[in-house]
Amino acid sequence: MQIGPYKLSNNLVLAPMAGVTDRPFRQLCKNLGAGFAVSEMVTSNSLLWGSKKTLRRANHAGETEPRSVQIAGADPKMMALAAKYNADNGAQIIDINMGCPAKKVCNVMAGSALMQDESLVAQIVEAVVNAVDIPVTLKTRTGWDLEHKNALAIAKIAENSGIQLLTIHGRTRACQYRGDAEYDTIAQVKSEIGIPVIANGDVTSPEKAKYVLEYTNADAVMIGRAAQGRPWIFREIDYFLNTGKLLPEPPVLEVRDILIGHLKNLYEFYGEYTGVRMARKHISWYSKGQRHGAAFRKCVNNVETVKDQLNMVNEFFERLSDAQELAA
Ligand SMILES: Cc1cc2nc3c(=O)[nH]c(=O)nc-3n(C[C@H](O)[C@H](O)[C@H](O)COP(=O)(O)O)c2cc1C
Repeated sequence: MQIGPYKLSNNLVLAPMAGVTDRPFRQLCKNLGAGFAVSEMVTSNSLLWGSKKTLRRANHAGETEPRSVQIAGADPKMMALAAKYNADNGAQIIDINMGCPAKKVCNVMAGSALMQDESLVAQIVEAVVNAVDIPVTLKTRTGWDLEHKNALAIAKIAENSGIQLLTIHGRTRACQYRGDAEYDTIAQVKSEIGIPVIANGDVTSPEKAKYVLEYTNADAVMIGRAAQGRPWIFREIDYFLNTGKLLPEPPVLEVRDILIGHLKNLYEFYGEYTGVRMARKHISWYSKGQRHGAAFRKCVNNVETVKDQLNMVNEFFERLSDAQELAA
């Protein structure tokens, strides 16, 4: 798939997830087979651009190209300024968030709440596209609620305004994350617009990725929650799409090595205090479903230092590996 001048290595995309897809996680997923990743959303409120959190979210140092930064907000002028600011600071692609149902975002009429007001959508996308000379992409849901599924209308506005790629999460805003994602709306939009479409929602396995790509005829699939604690899902899907065969689960000691590498990058990126805390949710995800995982999580969530956290993770995975060898 191509976005402006950027040819992606495959059609597998890591979804933007606030609090999750920071630079260390994006780079890890890219190393393990994601062809593209979108940053966590950055506010369009310029008063916050100097904040530690926003600066970190806009930090792409050393990240494999292309670097896409997602912006969120509801004021066309502020969104245009935010796009320009991020483009001047290293973003190669700007993604506009009209897909996030979070209260914090929607209460100020941003994220997926914007889908209610199509003329405001047009003003925002036009303002952002005109503000920068890099590709602008848009992420939406299928509509506001089940009675107002206006993804197609939004897609046409986007295409006519110069948006170069559209991602659609197969749920309405009102659905939040409930129920199953539906792919009919994505298929319909794909058949009626000319720009590339990424299908998103509930892609949890190589087989599901193939199904969604075929069903919607989308150009790529985007994966969010299924990559939490399983960043190797991208290489599994890539392998399946290319060969029709499933890769075996990674051995426990490889999982340990991937996690330890991930943790070290988190400590470097956030520093010890925040790094240890950010690492907790990732450690929990990697250990989900593992033997004695619940007891391990209870203990590891209480440690405060890099040294203790690394030791505990190492010990847990080594014990798992020993237990597997004994059982074999
Ligand atoms: C913790 C979390 C944070 C998210 N943050 C964002 C965000 O910042 N911007 C956005 O467009 N979508 C956000 N999303 C939505 C995801 O990008 C994606 O559309 C959604 O999770 C559906 O994909 P999945 O079923 O593969 O998880 C978030 C989702 C989760 C679970």
